[in-house]
Amino acid sequence: MTRIAVVVGAAGGIGRALADRLTADPGFARVVALSRRRPEGWAGDWLPADILDERTLAMAAQAIAGIGAPERIVVATGRLHRTGLMPEKAMRALSVEALTELFAVNAAGPALVAKHLLPLTPRDRPSVFAALSARVGSIGDNRLGGWYGYRTSKAALNMLIRTLAIEHARTRPLGVCVALHPGTVDTALSQPFQAGVPDLLAPGRAAAALLAVMDRLTPADTGGFFAWDGTPVPW
Ligand SMILES: NC(=O)c1ccc[n+]([C@@H]2O[C@H](COP(=O)([O-])OP(=O)(O)OC[C@H]3O[C@@H](n4cnc5c(N)ncnc54)[C@H](OP(=O)(O)O)[C@@H]3O)[C@@H](O)[C@H]2O)c1
Repeated sequence: MTRIAVVVGAAGGIGRALADRLTADPGFARVVALSRRRPEGWAGDWLPADILDERTLAMAAQAIAGIGAPERIVVATGRLHRTGLMPEKAMRALSVEALTELFAVNAAGPALVAKHLLPLTPRDRPSVFAALSARVGSIGDNRLGGWYGYRTSKAALNMLIRTLAIEHARTRPLGVCVALHPGTVDTALSQPFQAGVPDLLAPGRAAAALLAVMDRLTPADTGGFFAWDGTPVPW
């Protein structure tokens, strides 16, 4: 059987490492990369997709359905900063524009990916849909404050995943739907905030760990939030 994996956001630091690891895994015959632009040097299957443009997601879903039912779908898109938008250190920095943008990319986008791709997963065998969240989106773990937009958009993503998991289980009891914290990983997203991080992970190491966590998940884990080492993260 052709086992298929899909990586959404495959041009990003962690997304690319996930796509490369899955390609090297003989357990998967096809790895389909989705991103706004073809990942540099990527010779495998690629479909253009902007997670905020449902038309591109619908077209990608149709193309994937023509290949088969994906057993792994990883959503590795996300935003923490860009030029002119940095995480808020204090409430005086809050703006509706920044909050709206972060909620769109970090919460609405993965929800739309689920809308179009979760129905492609097989009904008769296990599958895993994982969205990369962040430990800072944990309400229970929030001791430092700050980073309002990123924290709250990831908390919203976590609730979306939990809600999707409940609906998904009704038609696909073997399907698992989770939020994953990748660790602090050496990518463009974390680059301005890496000083003093004791255990910065290389993207390849994080990707290998995340894929190992996905391999170990069972239907009892659906709707959960797990770190790269497999430990549950508090909501
Ligand atoms: N790195 C860390 O330490 C860390 C820690 C905790 C959680 N995470 C989470 O892990 C995930 C991956 O992060 P990363 O470190 O790999 O960051 P990254 O290298 O910046 O990759 C993020 C990717 O998201 C894509 N993206 C943003 N908006 C998009 C849209 N509308 N449509 C399609 N793609 C879009 C970007 O695409 P373009 O290339 O087209 O801009 C980029 O390739 C994110 O959800 C992040 O929040 C990362």
